[in-house]
Amino acid sequence: MNHTLLLIFFLSASLAGTLAAEDRALYLDPAQPREARVEDLLRRMTLEEKVTLLHGDSKFTTAAIPRLRIPRRWMSDGPHGVREDIGPDTWQPAGHTDDFSTCMPAQIALASTWDPALAQKEGEVIGQEALARGKQIMLGPGVNILRTPLGGRTFEYLGEDPWLTGRMAVGYIRGVQSQGVASCVKHFAANNQEWDRMSINVEMDERALREIYLPAFKAAVQEAGVLAVMGAYNEFRGQHCCENAYLLKDILKGEWGFENMVISDWGGTHDTREAALNGLDLEMGTEKPYAEYYLAGAYLAGLRSGQYPMAGLDDKVRRNLRVMIATHMFDQYPKGSLNTAAHQAVARRVAERGMVLLKNEKAALPLNLSQIHSLAIIGENAVIKQAHGGESSGIKAFYEVTPLEGIIHRAGKHATVTYARGYGADAGPEVTEQAVRAAQQADVAIVFAGLGHDEFRDTEGSDRKDLKLPNGQGELISKVRQANPRTIVVLVTGSPVQMDPWLAAVPAVLEAWYSGMEGGSAVARVLFGDVNPSGKLPCTFPKRLEDSPAHALGAYPGTNGTERYAEGLLVGYRYFDTKEIEPLFAFGHGLSYTQFEYSNLKLAKGQGKALETVTFDLANTGKRTGAEVAQVYIHQSNPRLPRPFKELKGFKKVTLEAGEHQTISIPLETGAFAFYDPAQKGWVTENGGFEILVGSSSRDIRLQGKLTLDQSVPAAH
Ligand code: GLC
Repeated sequence: MNHTLLLIFFLSASLAGTLAAEDRALYLDPAQPREARVEDLLRRMTLEEKVTLLHGDSKFTTAAIPRLRIPRRWMSDGPHGVREDIGPDTWQPAGHTDDFSTCMPAQIALASTWDPALAQKEGEVIGQEALARGKQIMLGPGVNILRTPLGGRTFEYLGEDPWLTGRMAVGYIRGVQSQGVASCVKHFAANNQEWDRMSINVEMDERALREIYLPAFKAAVQEAGVLAVMGAYNEFRGQHCCENAYLLKDILKGEWGFENMVISDWGGTHDTREAALNGLDLEMGTEKPYAEYYLAGAYLAGLRSGQYPMAGLDDKVRRNLRVMIATHMFDQYPKGSLNTAAHQAVARRVAERGMVLLKNEKAALPLNLSQIHSLAIIGENAVIKQAHGGESSGIKAFYEVTPLEGIIHRAGKHATVTYARGYGADAGPEVTEQAVRAAQQADVAIVFAGLGHDEFRDTEGSDRKDLKLPNGQGELISKVRQANPRTIVVLVTGSPVQMDPWLAAVPAVLEAWYSGMEGGSAVARVLFGDVNPSGKLPCTFPKRLEDSPAHALGAYPGTNGTERYAEGLLVGYRYFDTKEIEPLFAFGHGLSYTQFEYSNLKLAKGQGKALETVTFDLANTGKRTGAEVAQVYIHQSNPRLPRPFKELKGFKKVTLEAGEHQTISIPLETGAFAFYDPAQKGWVTENGGFEILVGSSSRDIRLQGKLTLDQSVPAAH
């Protein structure tokens, strides 16, 4: 055998041996404990390879490391489903034809279901579709608290209350991560407006931070085990959130024990030293060549020179590796599924259960098709497809059923359906006249009014300028109502809108939100009574903007680049109830086609972790099955520190047949009574009197009871 052949023989033998050894490498063995796999891989990585993992190599990926069989890592927006492929190096769509996904209703609609189990179902669908689309990290849910009704991304978040937001986020995250996909809860923290979002410096007192703006993130970390947290764009107390030592190191990783990874918002990283030392683990979306990212070349140079500790690098890499291992990047990658009938059914169910019946005088709804022979459907929001709008949360949906399509499909065999645009940016008076005529000639007129995702409406990147429905929709509604007393208004919005002067004259109003790809079917099923609406508002609808705390106190949108949250704890209904201001529609409000009765409130010492258990009877006293969201609020009689008049601390969505009643039991843990005491740097549950308020909304309290807590224990917060 000549020398060359001999050499090839030995080389291939040693290579085979290497591969065999690699194949046996502990980190590649899914049977091994995660931490052991992390440590095994970490020790094999070079300095350069470690740094490679800490920054993007395209808009939504990090680089593969073939030597170690580390594949490219893919991230994708967003909270409503798997976004179309973007880039790779620009914000433009990649132009693929295989990047369609199921489009769920906007998150504010999900919040309006008050159904954490359904949120988990939705998360499972999104996780399945992420697998099918080859994504390891899904950039959602968004849990920023609705502080101003003008917030451009209100549609993308879960409302004004930390408890509801936390419950819904935990369900959603558990769903996504049950499929082996990482959820990335965002935007940490205090990113509550779009105005000046990249640089506004937010200042607030510690109690507002702890009691309002952090709880949902804390629940995501400590209850749902979220695998990633996205830093926000804004500054908090003078330091960018993606490099904020207090938020990322002291609170998230220190107090809360978060061991997974912090990802920057896209373009939210600003300084190598701060990113290196203050808790950022992955830099994405910086507007620079990838090699010039703050955690790329400059960080590598600083590590080599000893400016930055290697221990800090290894901590970042460990956090990335934990998530990579948790998302099967070294194992048999599950294949997932896309747009199945089951996925579509979940999208429709979220839409149906999230729609909120705001007003329904004389049972104007549901519409009885055996008595209706003609319908006038009015408004361009009956025909506009919304899925793709709103920027990063937009979805390239397989299809989208518009309200008009849904109504024609559902009612077209029973009644003639006419459509008139009614209003629009370029609409002239003839459009209004056409709509009024259509209404005059029909048994029932349904006006679809709304905002859409254009700039200064419901979209990322800009806030709204006012609460008005644009393009003269309010005037149109009034004219249609004059033409036909049987006028129903359906709102297609992602945030509160003003409704005077037409509201008083209109017998029924349904808030349908942006209800996803099945929204048209869902809204038809609610309007014609196939589905009994059960949604409840996750936010206050104010009568006028200046009633809202951030506006009443002149705190929004901030001055000279700083915004002080002057309202403190008094966000949403906390403000309206404490200041006794009448809202247009209250937090937690939502009507049904049936009625519910509450009785027999009992407050008893809780079992296990529950300090108290709230028990009451709930009866469906109407003629049809329905679901009610029973809400439990607490009021502390004489707190040592000021507290909002009432705070939501429990709820349960219960379906009851006509005539059925159930005894409902809602546990309240110690933390439910606690407030944050900055002097003690901790949560305190005080002795003393509390009132328990049980109701169908924050303003429709049906039962009240008093209890006296006789223990002062540091809550296990
Ligand atoms: C956007 C958003 C964030 C999104 C990210 C990637 O600017 O703030 O929510 O996940 O960039 O698109």
